[in-house]
Amino acid sequence: MSEQRIAVVRTQEPDTTPHPTPHTGTGTDAGAGTGAVAVAHPNIALIKYWGKRDEHLVLPRTDSLSMTLDIFPTTTRVRLAPGAGRDAVVLGGRPAEGEALRRIVTFLDLVRQTARVPHRAVVESENTVPTGAGLASSASGFAALAVAAAGAYGLSLTATGLSRLARRGSGSASRSIFGGFAVWHAGRPGQDTKAADLGSYAEPVPVADLDPALVVAVVDAGPKDISSRAAMRRTVDTSPLYEPWAASSRDDLTGMRAALLRGDLQVVGEIAERNALGMHATMLAARPAVRYLSPATLTVLDAVGQLRRDGVAAYATMDAGPNVKVLCRRREADRVAQSVREAAAGGAVHIAGPGPGARLLPKGGR
Ligand code: DP6
Repeated sequence: MSEQRIAVVRTQEPDTTPHPTPHTGTGTDAGAGTGAVAVAHPNIALIKYWGKRDEHLVLPRTDSLSMTLDIFPTTTRVRLAPGAGRDAVVLGGRPAEGEALRRIVTFLDLVRQTARVPHRAVVESENTVPTGAGLASSASGFAALAVAAAGAYGLSLTATGLSRLARRGSGSASRSIFGGFAVWHAGRPGQDTKAADLGSYAEPVPVADLDPALVVAVVDAGPKDISSRAAMRRTVDTSPLYEPWAASSRDDLTGMRAALLRGDLQVVGEIAERNALGMHATMLAARPAVRYLSPATLTVLDAVGQLRRDGVAAYATMDAGPNVKVLCRRREADRVAQSVREAAAGGAVHIAGPGPGARLLPKGGR
């Protein structure tokens, strides 16, 4: 497994709750006009996060496990704006508005409260992944924002603390703090707020030599009809299949961790595919149903099935959108990409390997 490293972390564990360092306002990375710049990559869950037990703290009902990708990074700069009356947020060169802006401002409020620094901020973020299409843009987005905001506001956090912080923006972002494979612990239910918050974070997962690739087939890059946040809430509230899936997902995690440890890509893939299909089954049974999978998704799934019949270890997973990610061996990724490209009928196909964790860029860097 590649080394997990992040620039703003302190080396001492265990981590505690965020604590402020003195904020001088000028002459440091926290100074107005300078700020902090961070880069983070998306992750794709092989054991899915689907369902919260606490909406405010973003605490999940089950553990999840993912691979961080080496493509589609998000780069985010946060600068403090002393005297400004509100946060200014620019996403991909355009001012953020609506729900996207509200979530970022709420996240910055948490950082301000934790750092005890009242200043508003200017946030500029560039995503290289199509947003809102089930391609984990919120994971890389909030992981980069967490690292950049912690840097700009002078919060000194370990990687574990950054994972907890990123979680508050978007659950899946907790895993993008780490490179390679990461597990996000749900934590134990029934605890007080502080203990519950502390108990839910991601950490790296030991993996034997797997040489994995994820072939990403973008069958539709448009925004989705219903956000993953709303869809998972509806699923938990109304789907009779939710609890059975959550129970089986716990077993899936145990099996997946063991398979990763012995480098058994076939079992990792089989578990990932059934876990994802099970998650989509819970949504299809929600009232009203949530359906992210499209005819094009099923065509790609057929191609993945054919690859397996031809002796290629290839396994599909889908998130809150119609796009398909195919787990396979790196040396077979070109062949998988070719089959998937034919099936995806004009859709873009990308090959990703395990990517790095989120990190702060050198001062002023882009
Ligand atoms: C299907 O992390 O986007 O991609 O916590 O509400 O922001 P919020 O949800 P989000 O959900 C991701 C769901 C998923 C599965 C996964 O990544 O584990």
